[in-house]
Amino acid sequence: MDKQQAQTKINQLTEALNQYNYEYHVLDKPSVEDAIYDQKMQELRKLEEAYPEFKYPDSPTQRVGGEPLEGFQKVEHRIPMLSLANAFNEQDIRDFVRRASQGTEEPISFVCELKIDGLAVSLTYEDGKFVRGATRGDGTTGEDITSNLRTIRSIPLTIREKETLEIRGEAFMPHKSFLALNEERKANGEEPFANPRNAAAGSLRQLDPKIAAKRNLDIYLYGVGEWANSNLTKHSERLERLKELGLKTNPEWRKCHSVEEVMEYVEYWTKERPHLHYEIDGIVIKVDDLRQQEELGYTAKSPRWAIAYKFPAEEAITKLIDIELSVGRTGVITPTAILNPVKVAGTTVQRASLHNEDLIREQDIRIGDTVVIKKAGDIIPKVVRAMVEERTGEEKEFHMPKDCPACGSELVRLEEEVALRCINPNCPAQLKEGLIHFVSRNAMNIDGLGEKVIAQLFQADLVKTIADIYRLEKAELLELERMGEKSVTNLLEAIEASKANSLERLLFGLGIRFVGAKAAKTLAMEFGTMEKLQQATYDDLLAINEIGEKMADSIVQYFQEQQVIELLDELRALGVNMTYLGAKPSEAAKTSLFNGKTVVLTGKMDIYTRTEAKELIESLGGNVTGSVSKKTDLVIAGEDAGSKLEKAEKIGIDVWNESQFQQAMENEGVES
Ligand code: IVH
Repeated sequence: MDKQQAQTKINQLTEALNQYNYEYHVLDKPSVEDAIYDQKMQELRKLEEAYPEFKYPDSPTQRVGGEPLEGFQKVEHRIPMLSLANAFNEQDIRDFVRRASQGTEEPISFVCELKIDGLAVSLTYEDGKFVRGATRGDGTTGEDITSNLRTIRSIPLTIREKETLEIRGEAFMPHKSFLALNEERKANGEEPFANPRNAAAGSLRQLDPKIAAKRNLDIYLYGVGEWANSNLTKHSERLERLKELGLKTNPEWRKCHSVEEVMEYVEYWTKERPHLHYEIDGIVIKVDDLRQQEELGYTAKSPRWAIAYKFPAEEAITKLIDIELSVGRTGVITPTAILNPVKVAGTTVQRASLHNEDLIREQDIRIGDTVVIKKAGDIIPKVVRAMVEERTGEEKEFHMPKDCPACGSELVRLEEEVALRCINPNCPAQLKEGLIHFVSRNAMNIDGLGEKVIAQLFQADLVKTIADIYRLEKAELLELERMGEKSVTNLLEAIEASKANSLERLLFGLGIRFVGAKAAKTLAMEFGTMEKLQQATYDDLLAINEIGEKMADSIVQYFQEQQVIELLDELRALGVNMTYLGAKPSEAAKTSLFNGKTVVLTGKMDIYTRTEAKELIESLGGNVTGSVSKKTDLVIAGEDAGSKLEKAEKIGIDVWNESQFQQAMENEGVES
């Protein structure tokens, strides 16, 4: 390919990928399969590397760029980012509509929008290019979070006309991303975020854009700060125009001509709210006509032409009837409040988390108290406080028991922990929770084995340990309630199929402390088989990049347990796969010299980023691992490679420099 051709190809790919992004992220209507998108992206990356002079600064490959920042720069908002006055009930809305109508001679219309619960941001485009993104800050001065905002795929780096404008919107985390993120955090022993808004704000405050890039944030744009040379006269026209430019607006806005229509919208969304895939905390009502907006003007804090109706607080008052204890998978005892059923935000709540004994003490919550409960992040209800003023004297203080409520063995408080734990490895409650984890989606992924069925299996004494799942028989399953021929057959098939899972699923499923899904994958890739991992020493484990002391310690301890050794032997005998199967090889991988090879990257790389090199090798069927061992087939060493290079040379493993790697990639045909 000559230079001319390369440039043309880069242009074509850039345009196609921008179009796919727009369709997928802005219109929610993807037109190509992920694989095609990925392939074009890869192709563009390679071409850009070979011909950096043709690479666009706003190329779709350039979303996550650069090194972590030291701190955020300040950004002055030329037009202040105001906030909105609140309405809390129908009367407030009617008053607002009346005031707005009185301020003008002509008939008035409104635009109703969902009030997205995220973080207000400002985006600046100059001549059609995204140049700056900022937080609201105090309204006058915000922080420059451009590099984090660039990672949000629904923010186009270039819009469809060379316009200059500053727009505002709400960056947010969809429910699905929020739940997945918190699952991952819990699995990794990190504190989960309380709600999607905190998660979004926390992600955008990261100095390293690579972290924000993993958080799957999204954005809806709802307003304009400045727009050079725009002659639009209505807010609704602006929303339509923004969409045409490729900017993502929320599709649920409605134009309303009377307060009745406004109320209909409010009522509709109050009901529909739970079905949205993101969090909203109210409805924003705006005067549509921009001239009328100007006439109505502003107070010091907010425009008079708009109001935010806030959904009623997600709190309720009820009686705490009892405190129940549950035993988690790792033996942690969690107190749960049993409540008089009460409606909060559309659902009935009967249980709420109380976290731990210390918190119950601190907040002086007693059995029999009247309590305020709240849906944190509108998902998990919790007890906010006891209403001490309502006490009758009949309330009882709560004390944690000395023994496990499930198995009766003595509870212990581990060093530096607030929680009490049952440390009996045979505790039936732990086994049950462990089993629920074992079959879960990110672990062995056994369909049809939900919590209810597992409870039934325990009840009927059909399972006591993980291995028992693989001994289940048709006849005994058929005897369970609500288990027909069809579901039993499906279940047994799913169990059978799970035996073929790659090692990382089994590892994660075993529930070794501190070993989340990601660490399980690393371990599986590094060691390849369960046997090897079982023999790994503390130092072997620590030599792996992503494994820290706490995890290494926990892994070594785990595999020393007699019970674990027996369990793994049983699983092995029952035919459960114990090897890492790797990514399925693509067509390209089948003939690649990297296929099935274990490669270690070390030192500073210039031509490729680490991630790119890793992705390339993996796409060709290779495994990239973090430490050099006898299992390593090849080490690719950049500049200043240290101990890994030394070790490779000592063991006698092939070592390439980066140009050799690039050459190999060209030979593989990955280049264009
Ligand atoms: S309009 C002059 N529209 O709510 C202020 N705001 O309480 C213009 N918000 O700071 C704001 N969704 O962060 C507007 N559709 C929407 C919104 C929205 C969420 C947030 C925004 C603002 C806060 C005001």
